This record gives sequence, C-alpha cells and structure tokens, in this order.
Amino acid sequence: MPLVPMKQILDEAMKKNYGVGAFNVNNMEQIQGIMRAAKETQSPVIVQASRGALKYTNMYYIKHMVEAAVEDNPEIPVALHLDHGNSLQTCKLAIELGFTSVMIDGSLKEDSKTPTSFDENVEVTKAVVQYAHSLGVTVEGELGTLGGIEDGVGSGKVKLTDPDEAARFIKITGVDALALAIGTSHGAYKFKVDPSLAKNMLKMEIIKQVREKAPDTPLVMHGSSSVPKELIDIVNSYGGNLPHAVGVPISAIQEAIKLGIKKINVDTDGRLAITGAIRKFFAENPAEFDPRSYFGAARQAVYEVVKGKMIDFGTAGHASDYKPLTLDDMKKIYS
Ligand code: G3H
Ligand code: 13P
Ligand code: ZN
Repeated sequence: MPLVPMKQILDEAMKKNYGVGAFNVNNMEQIQGIMRAAKETQSPVIVQASRGALKYTNMYYIKHMVEAAVEDNPEIPVALHLDHGNSLQTCKLAIELGFTSVMIDGSLKEDSKTPTSFDENVEVTKAVVQYAHSLGVTVEGELGTLGGIEDGVGSGKVKLTDPDEAARFIKITGVDALALAIGTSHGAYKFKVDPSLAKNMLKMEIIKQVREKAPDTPLVMHGSSSVPKELIDIVNSYGGNLPHAVGVPISAIQEAIKLGIKKINVDTDGRLAITGAIRKFFAENPAEFDPRSYFGAARQAVYEVVKGKMIDFGTAGHASDYKPLTLDDMKKIYS
C-alpha cells in the first residue's frame, strides 16, 4: 500500500484506544529496524523526519528510503511525517517531497527558539492547515513549549499547555492532532529526579482536561523516550558518559494513552540503542572494520527497542484493522 495519511492512523488508534509510536529516522538502518518491528508485530507506524534529518539526508534519501520501506512491507500502514516544521515553507517542502503529514510547531518562532503568542501560533498553524488539507495531508500543531533544547530546537523554557486554550486552538486552526506540553522534554535528561519518581513529574490532568474539551482530536506527546537503564548501562559500560539520564517511564506513557495521547514521539531511545550497540561492538571486536557488521548491530538494537514499544503502546496487531485511505480520499474528506 502507498504511504497513508497520519490522520487515519491516529483516528483508528482513537477508536480502539491504543498509542502509535512516531519514530525519528535519519538513515537506512533506523528505517529497517523500525519496519522489521512493525512487520513482526503487525503494527501501523509513523516514521518521522526532523529538519535536521532532511538536511543530513539531503531530503531525497529520506523520501526514497521510506518509499523503499513501504514497498518492502506492503501490508504495514506507514505515515511519513515532518517533525517540528518551523514554517509554512518547510511544511510545503515536505509535502512536495511526498510526506503524508506535517507538524507545524507554531509554539516557537521560525528560529525554533523564541516562544510565540497564542495568536501568532494560530496564524501560522491555520495557514499550514489550509495548504496541507487542500492536498489531503495531515497537520499536527503544538501549544505550550517543552523543556530542553535538542540541536537548537526548543526555547529551554517550559510553558505547560492550558487546556482551555488548547480547545480553542483546535477549533480555530482545524489541526488533526495537537502536541501538548505536560512536563516532558527532548533528549536523555528529562527530569532532575531519581528515575523512580519521574512519573510524578508529568501533568496528566492536562491530557484529561484537553480530552474532555476536544474529545475527537488525537493528542501527541513529544519527548516520550523512556531512556531505559539497560541502554544507558550499555553506553556507559563501553566508554560512554551519560550520567543521570532520566526518561518517561513506560507506565506513564500507558496512562497517558488511556487519557488521550495517541501519537508518542521517540527519538532519543533509538539514538541510545544505536550508540550502545556500536560502542559494544567495537569494544568486543577491535579488529572489525566492515561497516555492515556494526551498522547491522545498530539496526538490530533499533528493532529490539521499537518492537518493545509497539507492544507496550498497544499498537501490535492493528496493522490490518482498516482499509488504508489515500491523500485523494482525504482531500474529499477535508473539502
Ligand atoms: O524533536 C527533536 C527530535 O529529537 C529531532 O532531533 O532535530 O536533532 O533531528 P533533531
Ligand atoms: P525524545 O527526545 O524523548 O525521544 O523525543 C523525541 C521527540 O519528541 C521528537 O519530536
Ligand atoms: Zn518533539
């Protein structure tokens, strides 16, 4: 099947109350690891590329690698999504490339650092929705700002989402999905507390309140990596230095899914899995220099991490639940 609109994947998840992982990709091994996990667990999946990923891959490689993944796995619904689009222009570029979904992160200005006002966010988000929907493409917006700065993305300041504003934002802009700020941040250092207390740092009531006010809109949680101790231990025991890394516990994500989160953004855990696998490989095989051996180990590590999440988020087994829609179908639905 061709790439599917993300809206369909999320609407199906709403009906059956499970979550769908949105996994960041930058290279072939990440894509293959994710697709193997999706195939084995029969899960729909969202593959997402940031602006950094577009730059790193010179855009066309991402497009064609994901198209290859779709051709290789015809029974798996896959949406290709732009993560943290910063302008109408970037979203247009992704749509021209063939992405079936875009995020316009209007919570920050085009520099991806300076917070915007509610009205500025509405203005840019509305413009993206108007353009994307005319072509059948899904739009994710964001209201509130996450903590942490990832490769220059993020203000470094947290502004939790106001549920009343969120409901108003959804209504005015017509977004298909909304990212909430509930206390998570990007990267491997989400909370300055012991991992056992990390769950208490999230404001679950924000999800509940937004869901009550906007019951039909799938909600999105950025910064959802769990930063598992096993992965950190592998990195650190083979020469890495990631002290005090803390992520979002799986139990918190499962609770968030029940309350209304349907798209769960994961990048850091994939990075940790790759880094640990390659460090371990080189430590154990100092004479090896065939890149397929260590990139192969990295691909295996991505597969294992993603497979676990597809099971934990409840996505497993849902690939064949529905008849995939095309962007042309979506155009009619939106018009
Ligand atoms: O939202 C941030 C994601 O982890 C993407 O990170 O911009 O370094 O590709 P990146
Ligand atoms: P993590 O850094 O927790 O993986 O979050 C990724 C993300 O939100 C991408 O948009
Ligand atoms: Zn994000």
